[in-house]
Amino acid sequence: MPSLALLHASQLVTLTGPPRARRGEELSELAIIPGGAFVASGGKITHVGKSTEIEKLCDAETEVINASGCVVLPGFIDAHTHLVFAGSRLDDYEARARGETYEQIAKRGGGIQTTVKATRAASEDELFALAKKRASWFLQNGTTMVEAKSGYGLTLEDELKILRVIQRIGKETPLETVPTFLGAHAFPPEFREDHGSYISLIIGEMLPRIAREKVAEYCDIFCERDYFDVNEARRILTAAKQHGLKLRMHVDQLTNGGGARLAAELGAATADHLEQTAADGINALAKANIQPVLLPGSAYALGSKKYPDARAMIDAGLAVVVATDFNPGSSPGPSMPMMLSLAVTQMRMSPAEAIAAATINAAASLNKVGETGSLEVGKLANFAICDCEDYRELAYWFGVSLVRDVFVRGVSISSSGGFQTAK
Ligand code: NIG
Ligand code: FE
Repeated sequence: MPSLALLHASQLVTLTGPPRARRGEELSELAIIPGGAFVASGGKITHVGKSTEIEKLCDAETEVINASGCVVLPGFIDAHTHLVFAGSRLDDYEARARGETYEQIAKRGGGIQTTVKATRAASEDELFALAKKRASWFLQNGTTMVEAKSGYGLTLEDELKILRVIQRIGKETPLETVPTFLGAHAFPPEFREDHGSYISLIIGEMLPRIAREKVAEYCDIFCERDYFDVNEARRILTAAKQHGLKLRMHVDQLTNGGGARLAAELGAATADHLEQTAADGINALAKANIQPVLLPGSAYALGSKKYPDARAMIDAGLAVVVATDFNPGSSPGPSMPMMLSLAVTQMRMSPAEAIAAATINAAASLNKVGETGSLEVGKLANFAICDCEDYRELAYWFGVSLVRDVFVRGVSISSSGGFQTAK
């Protein structure tokens, strides 16, 4: 493969630094190179520096990209998505506009159950076609890797079907995927009156098979009133750990049920949502070194005023992550630049903090910090070229995509027709 040189970026936002999540003041250090450039070969970055130095490494074979007038940064890493589902939640959306709440809609059998019904009825190929279209939305908005959860199947076969689709998206499109098993997303209708049996099914059949087939790296749970309580979550996640799965958790989204403290107790990789978490939960996360994944898109789309307390978390030394929570119910949005805007306007993060949270810290939360999340020698050439000269514009302009081109493993998604895989 001939090498690729990107030259003359107005700002090359490298995020060079220690290969771990950033906290405190480090979150503001983006390691920007004005007039920055790099060379990539075989899909990986081989040199990074000033354009004047990098130019000297180019020969007649090198494919040169002139990024003058542009900000170039690592592809966003979206560490919390529900990418694979079928059906529509437009009725829920409209019902909320009429004043019904997310919880009221779920109680009358709408919400997650609507999506479970449609997803069970869809074939693997149908789900793949739907997910592939969404993968192009993520890529077009500058995201090059997503964590993606199952959770709309709630039978062993339907959960496996979703996890296989997540794997196929990672192999057959440029979007890199990290799969998470979310069988404990809700109690399915056939177990509405018998929660114990569904938990036994997860522990006794689903987890062993999912671990054996290696179709998931993480196990997640919706720890919430009317879903899985703290004791049920502890049982399921302890079993998941015994099967070698790492943990991510939906906690304290609608009510403060002590989920953050449980994430700390179990040593989860991440505790996600945290809209209702108070000081004790934040302190527990800090002591246990758990990364919070903040999902402002779901507060926004549910019309809530209650965003997670990002400032308190950063002050407590937590290595915050910002992600979309892309899903059909509470956050139908794939755009990380939109999340940057919400992080700044609603959670009082600085644009630099939000970008670190959406790149290097997200990579660290997925155990991928050795391969992506910054533009450094040895890392994947996964990056976005944006139509602006100051990185803060990425969080400032909203409702418009400044992303001009996206590269995965050194291959442009536009030159490759969007979906020629570089892998
Ligand atoms: O992260 N909270 C639970 N799960 C999703 C919503 C899923 C849905 O409504 O379909 C979330 O917000
Ligand atoms: Fe979620």
